[in-house]
Amino acid sequence: MAKVIAVSNHKGGVGKTTSVINIGAGLNKKDKKVLLVDLDPQANLSQSLNIEDPEFHVYGAIKGNYPLKPIEILKGLHIIPSVSELSSAEPELTSEAGREFILSELLEPVVNNYDYILIDCPPSLGLFTINAFTAADEIFIPMQAQYLALQGIGKLLALKDVIKKRLNSDLEIGGIFITQFDRRKILNRYVLETIESHFDDKVFNSYIRNNVALAEAPNEGLDIFRYQGNSIGAFDYMKLTNEILKKQSPGKKDTTT
Ligand SMILES: Nc1ncnc2c1ncn2[C@@H]1O[C@H](COP(=O)(O)OP(=O)(O)O)[C@@H](O)[C@H]1O
Ligand SMILES: [Mg+2]
Repeated sequence: MAKVIAVSNHKGGVGKTTSVINIGAGLNKKDKKVLLVDLDPQANLSQSLNIEDPEFHVYGAIKGNYPLKPIEILKGLHIIPSVSELSSAEPELTSEAGREFILSELLEPVVNNYDYILIDCPPSLGLFTINAFTAADEIFIPMQAQYLALQGIGKLLALKDVIKKRLNSDLEIGGIFITQFDRRKILNRYVLETIESHFDDKVFNSYIRNNVALAEAPNEGLDIFRYQGNSIGAFDYMKLTNEILKKQSPGKKDTTT
């Protein structure tokens, strides 16, 4: 049974999509079966892996046209792509009963096929993020070590509390990690300390440094390991992947082991 992880931060540009691709690819390199779900109408995750105009996508599945149809990127690394039309699903679903459970329901038939399901959330706390939190075991929060990084995080944590209370009692914060870190910047170090003092042991020891290869890889439709396996970005994401593997216990619904 897969461990379902929602990668979320309603701030844009903090490294959600980059982290979903590269943690997913890292886990895949460690022989884990991984499904990436693009839940953002901007479809950056899909585009970054060279998937344009897919026939089957998350929007069609959410509308009930077909079940989830994962596309294989590599052996053991699959994706459910998104399309810009997904943005119209939110208003379309306003009167749908149980609309918070749509993703959770869609994942049910495939959850046994994977070790990890990583959901790339949009930069908002709307219906898709609610669906992701309802389907997830854990939330990962990527954060930039920048002034005001913590601003607004209270809203995300409050949403997590409500979802945990009403819709998904198993939901936990799996961890917070720093992205686009620049060791030379004093402010970065100061903010890192603030985040660590605020979240304590929820903060991963591994952090992701600024690395241009991470920004270039999507142009080639590749994850960092295939684009530049000896880069700082590849090193950092593999370190984070190893820490995730060390930390993780089996998924919540896994009562067989
Ligand atoms: N560690 C990093 N070093 C350099 N560029 C990065 C790094 N992480 C992300 N980027 C770049 O920053 C931008 C925003 O990252 P992205 O993952 O798309 O954020 P989000 O999904 O949270 O909006 C992208 O252009 C991405 O390539
Ligand atoms: Mg994104």
